[in-house]
Amino acid sequence: MKTQLVFANLAGIETELLAVIAGDAQMAKGKDAKPQPVLLTSDATVQAAAAAVLASGEFKAAANETLLLHAPAGLAAKRLLLVGVGKTAKATAHSIRSAAGTAIRFAKPRGIRNVAFALPVAAELPVGPSSRATVEGALLADYDPDTYRSDRKDQSIHDFTVVGVAGQTAAAVELAYAEGIIVAESQNFARELVNEPGNKLTPTILGQRATVMADANGLKSEVYSTEKLHELKMGAFWSVSQGSEEPPALIVLTYEPEGYDPDTYTGPVLGLVGKGITFDTGGISIKPADKMELMKYDMAGSAAMIGAMAAIGRIKPNVKVISVVCSAENMPDGKAQKPGDVQTAMPFKDGEPGKTIEIINTDAEGRLVLADGLTYARQLGCTHLIDAATLTGACVVALGPVYSGGFSNDDETFNKFMSALEISGEKVWRLPVGDEYYEQIRSDIADIKNTGGRWGGASTAAQFLQVFADETPWIHLDIAGMAWYEDTKPYIAKGPSGFGVRSILEWVRSYES
Ligand code: BES
Ligand code: MN
Ligand code: ZN
Repeated sequence: MKTQLVFANLAGIETELLAVIAGDAQMAKGKDAKPQPVLLTSDATVQAAAAAVLASGEFKAAANETLLLHAPAGLAAKRLLLVGVGKTAKATAHSIRSAAGTAIRFAKPRGIRNVAFALPVAAELPVGPSSRATVEGALLADYDPDTYRSDRKDQSIHDFTVVGVAGQTAAAVELAYAEGIIVAESQNFARELVNEPGNKLTPTILGQRATVMADANGLKSEVYSTEKLHELKMGAFWSVSQGSEEPPALIVLTYEPEGYDPDTYTGPVLGLVGKGITFDTGGISIKPADKMELMKYDMAGSAAMIGAMAAIGRIKPNVKVISVVCSAENMPDGKAQKPGDVQTAMPFKDGEPGKTIEIINTDAEGRLVLADGLTYARQLGCTHLIDAATLTGACVVALGPVYSGGFSNDDETFNKFMSALEISGEKVWRLPVGDEYYEQIRSDIADIKNTGGRWGGASTAAQFLQVFADETPWIHLDIAGMAWYEDTKPYIAKGPSGFGVRSILEWVRSYES
C-alpha cells in the first residue's frame, strides 16, 4: 500500500472512495436520546452530499458503522463512505485508528484499490495524533494473513491518501504521520512472524528473520544456540529445547542511541524479553489435540519485542534498549524433560548457584525460557525490564480476548506503561503478584516449582518470573488472549494481532532523556 499525506480541499480529491468520519453528537443518555450523527469535517460540499442520509436516521454513527454513497453530489470522489466513531465527545485517536481500518476493510473485498481518508475536524481530536492513528489503522487493516494461499487474490489497497484541511500546520502532522507508518509496518512485521507455522518458523529461522530486520534498521544482533546456553548455564531455557530436534535460539538485539558511549552513558537500559516458543505441544505433559495448531503463536511475545525493536531502530529514541528473545520448540521426545525433573536456572553472577526448579508440568515452559532470559537481560545491564509472553490459559479465562494481563513489582514503572497505552490504544489490565502467590510455587525438593496449581494461574506464573527479575523494576505482559484474534473485526483481519508492539514502543519512548 502506497500512502501519502496531502492538505487539500476534500471536494476536489479524486479517488475511488473518500471516507469521512461521523460522530454522534447526542449528549443525553437513555432510550429517548436519538443519535445525532454529525460529519467531522468542515467541508460544506461533503456536508451537503451527506445531508439527506444523515437526516434519514438510517445511519447512527456507531463505532465502525459504515454507509456508502455513490456519485456524491459535487465531489470529485466516485464514492463517499461515512464511518462512525460513536459519541464524538468520547472519541479518541484509537477511534480514528479503527475508523481508518474499517474504511480499508470495507474497500478491500469490493475491488476498490484507491482510498482517501479525511482527517477529522473536532476539538476532541488533535490533528497530529489523528494523522498517526489514521495511517496506522489503514496499514494494519490492509494486512491479511494469506501468505500460504495459492489462490490468493491480491485485494490490497494500492493507494491511500490522508487528507488534512488545506492550510493546516503541516510539520507536526507530517512527523506523526511518518511515525504511524513505522509503527504499523513494525506491527505488521510482528504479525507476519506470528502467522508463520511451526514448520516454517523454527527458532533458527526466527533468529535469521530478526538478524535481517536488525541489519536493515541499524541494530546490533547476535544469535546464539545450544553451546552458548550451556556456557551461560541457562538450564531452565535448555530444558525446554532438549526434547526437540530443532536447536534453540537466544537472540539479542541492541539499540544504542546516537552518540552512545558505554563509558559515559548513565541513562536507563531497557530490557525487552520475549517468549519465543515456535511451537508448544506441551512436551511430555502433552496438550489435547483440539486447537493445538494455534500453538504456533506461542512465539508472539518474541514477535512483539522484535517488532518493537524494528520501530525503535527507525524512530531512534534517546535511550538504550536491549531485547533478549528466548526461542525453542517444546516437544515430547526420548530426550525431553519429564515431570519431576529438577533444572538449574542461570546464575546471575558466575560462580553463584542458580535457582533450582522442580518441573511439575512440562507445558509450563514459557516461564522456564523467560527465567533465563530475564536473568541474562539483568546481566547485560538492563535497569528496567519488560517481558511479553503467551504465558497462561488462566489469563485468557480471567480477561477474555479484550485485555492482556499486566503484572509488575514496581508501581512507577507500571504507571509509565499505563500512560503509554493512552497513545497505543492497546488494553492491559493490571493483575497482582505478591508473596502470597510465592507460597503456591514453593517446591518440596527444589527452590521453586514451575506450576502453582489451578487457582490464580496467571499470577503464580508471573510470580515465578518475578523471582528472576529480582529487584529490577519489571513488567510482565501475559498476551495469551490478545496475540491471536479468533474473530474478524471490522478494522482488522482475524489471526495474528501484533499486540504489544505499539505499547512497548511508547513505554520505551517514555524513558527518553
Ligand atoms: N502457551 C501456553 C499458554 C497459552 C494458552 C497460550 C492458550 C495461548 C492460548 C503455555 O505454555 C501453557 O501451556 N500454559 C499452561 C500452564 C499450566 C501447565 C500451568 C496453561 O495455561 O494451561
Ligand atoms: Mn505450554
Ligand atoms: Zn507455551
